[in-house]
Amino acid sequence: MDAFFASPEPHIFRSFREACCGKGSTVLRGLSGTDPVLDFARSTAAGLASAPRSLECRFLYDAQGSALFELITQQPEYYLTRTESSILAANAPAIRQITGPATLVEFGSGNSEKTSHLLRAWLEQTPHVCYVPIDVSESALVEAGGAIAAKYDNVKVVGVNCRFQQAFPLISQLSPSLVLLLGSTIGNLAPAEMSRFLTSMASSMQAGDFFLLGLDLVKPAYILEAAYNDAAGVTARFTRNLFARMNRELGSGIDTESIEHVANFNAAKEQIEIFARFTSRQTLFLEPLGMQFTIPVGELVQVEISRKFRLERTVRYLEEFGFETEAIFADELEWFALILLRRIPKYHAADRGRKR
Ligand code: SAH
Ligand code: AVI
Repeated sequence: MDAFFASPEPHIFRSFREACCGKGSTVLRGLSGTDPVLDFARSTAAGLASAPRSLECRFLYDAQGSALFELITQQPEYYLTRTESSILAANAPAIRQITGPATLVEFGSGNSEKTSHLLRAWLEQTPHVCYVPIDVSESALVEAGGAIAAKYDNVKVVGVNCRFQQAFPLISQLSPSLVLLLGSTIGNLAPAEMSRFLTSMASSMQAGDFFLLGLDLVKPAYILEAAYNDAAGVTARFTRNLFARMNRELGSGIDTESIEHVANFNAAKEQIEIFARFTSRQTLFLEPLGMQFTIPVGELVQVEISRKFRLERTVRYLEEFGFETEAIFADELEWFALILLRRIPKYHAADRGRKR
């Protein structure tokens, strides 16, 4: 809670509940307390100094990156968004039936488009709905909040512009809640990060709160690789934009034309791995830190992983964090699944841990 109340703007709201009253759309900013450009520079320096080089994927989402991601979701090869959207459209009333009138809290909300299915199901049962999208992309929050407020009179949108880890202290204030993490965004976290994320999520939620998690499931490599190598080259532009962002914000001076997008399925790890490969030697400056790095021709710099999941194994894994599975929704082909979890009382979670 400290991170939230220490920030300049949110003290206007004596409690987050107050912010949820009324109508329209608000975005809370400045929760991190760190300079965003320095944060980007430091993370990039650490990633470029590591071997093999690897960058944090949250920086893919500046305004241009968010717009490119939205375009990715419209590509014919990128089945994830339309599949998850159809599962949500078919099951939103059933989800509302199970959760009751919970506050909708969404991690990594992006354009919030799929969430509309839930908002509509909520509005059918509840006169006034509070929706709390959380995202590092300020532009995504502003645009999505504006669009929802314009479309739905009785939805109050309180966007929170911060990283996932900074948002956990808010969760307990929002109980009873349904926390959403859609799009298989959890797959962008490496196993240790995912475990930390779920530990924080479980300890921030109150017993009885719900968590709806979207997962892209393991399927043949050619389908997965096509989704991350669309013919129109939008995903390649998304990868290049990370380096264009470095040029814009860190004065990096990279020739983005020399970057090739490489996306392969690693069958052993069951994850798509996305890299930037340089076709000419590049010296990359990080002006805020007075540092520079030279990247040789052909070197692969990892920009993202996208893990793919096996349903039964993942359900068992999630339950170890103190969740109970309420329902599983999937498409006919089982390409994508949504798992509805309920936070169980903490002593139950401890008992489960001991049995294992
Ligand atoms: N949920 C949407 C968007 C998915 S894209 C959908 O399913 O289509 C992933 C979203 O998560 C982006 O909007 C990005 O800005 C946000 N994001 C990525 N890493 C984040 C982090 N560490 N903290 C907060 N938001 C993050
Ligand atoms: C947001 N996330 C789940 C996307 C994915 O499929 O892993 C990000 C993405 N990167 C390239 N294409 C899509």
